[in-house]
Amino acid sequence: MITEPAPTVRELLAFYLEAGVDCALAEEPVDRLAELDAPPPAPRVAAVQAPRPVAAPAVIRGEAAPAPDVAIASAREAARTAPTLEALRELMQNFEGCALKHTATRLVFADGNPQARIMFVGEAPGRDEDIEGLPFVGRSGKLLDLMIGAIGLNRTTAYITNVIPWRPPGNRTPTPQETQICLPFIQRHIELVNPDMLVTLGNPSTQTLLSTREGIMRTRGRWFDYDTGQRTIRALPTFHPAYLLRSPSYKRLAWQDLRAIAKVLAQGS
Ligand code: URA
Repeated sequence: MITEPAPTVRELLAFYLEAGVDCALAEEPVDRLAELDAPPPAPRVAAVQAPRPVAAPAVIRGEAAPAPDVAIASAREAARTAPTLEALRELMQNFEGCALKHTATRLVFADGNPQARIMFVGEAPGRDEDIEGLPFVGRSGKLLDLMIGAIGLNRTTAYITNVIPWRPPGNRTPTPQETQICLPFIQRHIELVNPDMLVTLGNPSTQTLLSTREGIMRTRGRWFDYDTGQRTIRALPTFHPAYLLRSPSYKRLAWQDLRAIAKVLAQGS
């Protein structure tokens, strides 16, 4: 039998990086299998803590992650009560119901002008966004800036955020549960910004916000109605800039979408 030489530390690190593991979560490794044998945690009590400036989530800081349905209900209840964007940001900062918060460096709330007529929504922050605390500041963000610049927009005339406000570890795809937990926050976010037009960037954001199962190839460039509960907003899906970086031949179609956006903006609301 031919035995492979053991990998060097450099090779192992290269393997981890390739697999998307680009940050350490703790100093010491955790044996998750050993945790399975540990006694179950004491029952968690959902309650509201002492008065805060805005309604606090019913999930308590420092407790084990709640069951997804508890976290979703808690997010829904908390988001509903946020009267302003600042209150929403604070509430999300204090929310303990989404495990992504504990692996991310910080909350990535939004960038741009909350008075803007147009709001762009991506999927989730990546490594650069996690470091800076702002959405779309990495490579795909640079392309997004060029795209919106081509129709005369920039971060003072547009508002930018994501469905998920915390970076998933290693940039993995958020789970459906994580998305459902974060959904009430982005829904309230859109309601508070109340733009004239919503642009969903890529499949996950489009499918989550516009409640469609169709893929981006079918949805892009088609106008949808987004109902905030207060009013209906026109919504247009287009390609995610990260996808355009990988598949530049689709930039031609993205340009068509951008022209459709510019046309509607020029018409007024
Ligand atoms: N991709 C996203 O969907 N959002 C970001 O903020 C960055 C990359």
